[in-house]
Amino acid sequence: MAEVTWEPAALSRAERWRALDLRAATVWLTGLPGSGKSTLAGAVETALVRAGRPAYRLDGDNLRHGICSGLGFSSADRDENVRRAGEIAHLFADAGVIAIVALVSPFADGRQRARELHERDGLGFIEVFLDTPLSECARRDPKHLYERARAGEVTGLTGVDAPYETPAAPELVIRPALGLERSVALVLRALAE
Ligand SMILES: Nc1ncnc2c1ncn2[C@@H]1O[C@H](COP(=O)(O)OP(=O)(O)OP(=O)(O)O)[C@@H](O)[C@H]1O
Ligand SMILES: [Mg+2]
Repeated sequence: MAEVTWEPAALSRAERWRALDLRAATVWLTGLPGSGKSTLAGAVETALVRAGRPAYRLDGDNLRHGICSGLGFSSADRDENVRRAGEIAHLFADAGVIAIVALVSPFADGRQRARELHERDGLGFIEVFLDTPLSECARRDPKHLYERARAGEVTGLTGVDAPYETPAAPELVIRPALGLERSVALVLRALAE
């Protein structure tokens, strides 16, 4: 886009963070539907804010109500959904707000692009894999997605008839046996590092 130039910042990130006493990174929670992303994201957000740290949850479902409305569930639209979430998280983190993304984000490529967007720009990116077995996700099934997939009412459900690419090198792997409290503690520790 030759007609669009990049307007350089008047204020550096370092000065902003120093002046406002901020420090941020993005926490990216990936996993099957029902694996516990939104739950963990909310608990981490609450813990951080109560500790006086600006943090904000970017939940895939909520983004689809706003900035990603108009996107469906084709591969291209899922890619675009993940790309937008990555861009927004990057803006939040740059601004000094810890972004906590809760998004199935089934493809390694999309997650990698979000990571590179951050790391190229000197921002931390903590990929957290919610390694909850499909059987457990289907047992929880609060949105009845797996039930509806079984009944043939939903197609293209990640883990059922759409692929989920397991993260190869996430910063954290969270298994259900850990429980919510210890999972939050692990994410906070990873952030502190
Ligand atoms: N650590 C946990 N142990 C037991 N149950 C949990 C745990 N975390 C979440 N749950 C429960 O599992 C269900 C799914 O959790 P949640 O909605 O957070 O998943 P999700 O990954 O955000 O799903 P989706 O991709 O559909 O948005 C909920 O009913 C939640 O209460
Ligand atoms: Mg969710």
